[in-house]
Formats: sequence, C-alpha cells, structure tokens
Amino acid sequence: MKCQPLLQCIAPAKVNVFLEVLGKRDDGFHELETVMLRTTLCDVLQFQDTDQGQLSLQTADDSRSPEQAGFPLDSSNLILKAATALQQATGCNRGAQITISKKIPAEAGLAGGSSDAATTLLALNQLWNLNLPRAALHEIAATLGSDLNFFVQNCRAAVCRGRGEQVQPVSMNGRLHLVVARPARGNSTPQVFAGMHPAASVHSSIDIVKALEGGSVDALVRAAFNRLTEPARRLNPEMAELSDHMSLLFHRPVFMSGSGSTLFAFARSSREAGKLARRLQRADLPFVSSVEV
Ligand code: C5P
Repeated sequence: MKCQPLLQCIAPAKVNVFLEVLGKRDDGFHELETVMLRTTLCDVLQFQDTDQGQLSLQTADDSRSPEQAGFPLDSSNLILKAATALQQATGCNRGAQITISKKIPAEAGLAGGSSDAATTLLALNQLWNLNLPRAALHEIAATLGSDLNFFVQNCRAAVCRGRGEQVQPVSMNGRLHLVVARPARGNSTPQVFAGMHPAASVHSSIDIVKALEGGSVDALVRAAFNRLTEPARRLNPEMAELSDHMSLLFHRPVFMSGSGSTLFAFARSSREAGKLARRLQRADLPFVSSVEV
C-alpha cells in the first residue's frame, strides 16, 4: 500500500482591535483601515494528498452532519474554493482529502472561514510541491475574500487596508490576553456594513500601532476602536446587551471584532483572562474563551 503524504495545520482566528471605514467604493466594498491580530483560538486542518485531482472535505467528528457542524462541506465552502482556485492557477492535477476540526464560531467577526481557506492555500502549496511565492498566494487569496491575505502573510499583527487585502505587518511587544465571547446570534457582514451611517471624522490606526509596539494594555484600551460597532448593536440587540453586561462585570471597556458578533476585553495576564472568562461562563453563553495574541 502506498502511503500518501499528510499535513496537519492550525488555522488561527483574528481579532480586529481597530477598524475604521474610510468610504464606499465603486465595487460595492468599503475602503478600510483595520488592525488585525492573530490569536491562539484556532481550527485544525489535516490535508491528505490524493492522485486523482479530487477534493473532499469532512469534519474530524464525521458523525456530525453539515447542519450540525454549522458550516457547509460542499463546494460552497471557502476551503474547497481555495483548493480549486490553487489547482486552476497552477494546472495542478493533484487532489486532497481535507479534514477539519472546527473551534472558531461562524458569523463571529473572527474570520474562521477565511483563515481555513488561507491555511488551505499555504498547506496545499507545500503538499503539492507547487512552490508558489507568497505574492502569488496573496493574489489568489484576494479573489476569495477580504480577510484571507492577513493569514497568508502569517504575521502576528498587521494594519490592513483597501478591502482588507493590503497587509502591512506590525511588530508587537509582549503577549496580549483577551476574553472573547459571542451571543447565540451571529452578524451578517453585508447587513452590518449596510447599516452604517457616514462619520463626521475618521480615526487613524497610528495610536493603536504605537500601543502594540509599546506593549501597553492601557494605551491599547484607549486606542481600540471599531466603526461597525454601532450598526452591529442596532442589528443584534442581544450582542449589545452582552457587551453592556461584560463591561459592567469586568469594569472595563468591551470591543467588537470585525462585524461581530464576537466581543472582547483586554486582560492583564492569562490568569486574569481565565478568571474573567469563568465569571462570564456563569451567564450560560454559547461561546466564551480566554485567548492570547
Ligand atoms: O470579502 P468578504 O467575503 O469578507 O466580504 C463579505 C461582505 O462584507 C461583502 O460582500 C461586503 O458586503 C462586505 N464588505 C465590505 N467592505 C469590505 C469587506 C467586506 O463592504 N472591505
């Protein structure tokens, strides 16, 4: 029996500690300035090389149907779209059996789907010995969504511009500890963008970048910002209520990641993050975790 090569990879979730909308573009997307951080919350993907060019996706716990898993396993999944795009861009006739163990919730503003897809590009480039340079992977990534390029860049922190696909890495000092939580209902990204009102003045990412470089939690809390928070609160009152509850319980500001509905607060240590997460777990939420950046 021939043993086919196998690769196991981690697909991390991101949080946005800063997100400003600079305007609406002719293509319907919004021009952004956002700061993304890679977290320790992750999905795990396994890639098994196959000869026939076929692509398949299953969950690690294959007793669960796609409905139970909460995401599609057919060609509409961004993982399979990414694998197909890589085959088409390179003419590669190899295939892969992909198995996913999903931890990142969907419609959460954590870019779980984008991270899975970007990880697929990086993994199959290696597994299929394609040797595409990172710039070529970035080009493919940008055709699949706005958040993939951050993960293709594979950095801890970055300022992302354009639709989000122009990634400029930022150096970070020290580790960051966050408590993240999401209410039962997720947010639809297009709906959140559509509910936004024009801002009188725009914020810049300069202060948050300085705070990340300096490693000061106080400076981060002062500079963190998300323009999409107001429309998301209006669309998801359950999220607004959770945000206010967390803020009271933790005695500190609470922020939203991306278009939500994940909320997060900064902690001073992993011990404090764990303690805050346990306090919140008593509220019986579907997703609460302490994560590191
Ligand atoms: O590119 P992505 O699939 O993440 O975008 C999902 C939706 O979010 C888009 O269809 C668009 O409605 C909105 N979006 C936007 N401007 C961006 C990114 C996303 O309007 N920069």
